[in-house]
Amino acid sequence: MTVANDESIAYPAPGSRPYGNGKEKVPPHVVVLFGATGDLARRKLIPGLAHLTLSALAPEVRVIGSSLEELDDDSFRQFAKAAVGEFGGDKVSPQQWEDFAARLHYVPQTAGPEALAKAVRQCEEELGEEVMRLHYLSVPPKAAEAVIGMIRSADLVERSRVVMEKPFGTDLQSAIALNARIHETFTESQIFRIDHFLGKEAAQNILAFRFANGLFEPIWNRNFIDHVQIDIPETLGMEDRAEFYEATGAFKDMVVTHLMQVLAFVAMEPPTALEPRAIIEEKNKVFRSLLPFEPGNVVRGQFEGYRDLDGVAPDSDTETFIALRCGLDNWRWAGVPFYLRTGKRMAEGQRIISIAFREAPRSMFPVGSGVGAQGPDHLTFDLADASKMSLSFYGKRPGPGMRLDKLSMQFATTETERAEDVLEAYERLILDAMRDDHTLFTMAEGIESLWARSAPLLENPPIVKPYPQGSWGPNAIHQLIAPNAWRLPFERGWREKR
Ligand code: BG6
Repeated sequence: MTVANDESIAYPAPGSRPYGNGKEKVPPHVVVLFGATGDLARRKLIPGLAHLTLSALAPEVRVIGSSLEELDDDSFRQFAKAAVGEFGGDKVSPQQWEDFAARLHYVPQTAGPEALAKAVRQCEEELGEEVMRLHYLSVPPKAAEAVIGMIRSADLVERSRVVMEKPFGTDLQSAIALNARIHETFTESQIFRIDHFLGKEAAQNILAFRFANGLFEPIWNRNFIDHVQIDIPETLGMEDRAEFYEATGAFKDMVVTHLMQVLAFVAMEPPTALEPRAIIEEKNKVFRSLLPFEPGNVVRGQFEGYRDLDGVAPDSDTETFIALRCGLDNWRWAGVPFYLRTGKRMAEGQRIISIAFREAPRSMFPVGSGVGAQGPDHLTFDLADASKMSLSFYGKRPGPGMRLDKLSMQFATTETERAEDVLEAYERLILDAMRDDHTLFTMAEGIESLWARSAPLLENPPIVKPYPQGSWGPNAIHQLIAPNAWRLPFERGWREKR
């Protein structure tokens, strides 16, 4: 058994690996999916593994499901079939299904480490000597330690990588303690902490847009950018996650995780290379320069009716909504406010990053011409699965005289020839973990920095304010952003393709 506490990552030397052509061979893998009957496994992981296997991106895969439920191989296959049918993007033919089903096995957690070890070894015999193990921990944080203990007892640490789901602790102390405990079993280089927002095609396109073009980098700073909004309202409620959510809340579920990772892509300095160490270093620098979250710059909200849900305390203080103003104390961004907002049961489901540019210092256009009437010029990234970008600016309205209208240049991935090649976020990240590529994963240091910056808010959270379901949050969101205004709801919708 390998027990290691080595924190360092064996990064490839810069340039030693041709990153990103997506054609490197993926070694054969036994994937042990813990939490295999949970919601995430059903909606994303099992359909994603089916797609990776059947599309030949990762053809040599065996999946061993494990959870507290007493299933056998056949009943797990039934469960997986329903999941792929309901949530899989592609239609799977009966032949393809048989092909995937033959690779699925199940070992209930109650069967113990020996049964698990036996199942893994049987699969490995079919896959040859090069075979690797990928343990996917789709389990709540409390269960994660028991699962890691099981992996150790089953002697399955060698040749393995472990994918871990958030939350990675609940504050700085718990994050440090959790990382220390995981490091008793796995080295940092074996650990892949997943944040699925970084697997979204649109999030990676931020890196392409910023660092593959010379056009925007010169104006990507405090001299030209007035403020940034990262706005992720959801219409979804708790569904059957109220119990989890009650102990978590919007800040820990979304802000300290997804929104911060996206913020880092927007704010980071140009990395020296497209390789994990360079990207992770730049992200960590962003987190280190983040100013602590001050309670006075935060609006916490709770949708009306939340306290009536099963699993929620009648006097619950959990926020189902949060909006906040934060900033980065560095040369590029000093003085530029970043406004973040996310919440459940809101008016619309959107995932928008909006960069507002400074307005022209003087205008030759007369009052009433329309200049400035529709806010500043904006660059907008839409992180939806059908990802889009838009650059808005003032231009002349056709006809006599000089009236100005807000115009835009728009791009949508769905309109490109390669629209079909988009991988679902989890698929992309599972594939990267199998390729041993940490570029799009989060590391212990960055997470601990984020928790450190969160301390003032966690220690002294402002009271939660109620907001009606289907709204944009409590009224205080307008004071928070004044004299600016939230971009959402959009004044003009995205342009439909003509
Ligand atoms: C999850 C959160 O990580 O992300 C959920 O736990 C949230 O509360 C979800 O709804 C949003 O992800 P996506 O990909 O649907 O935008």
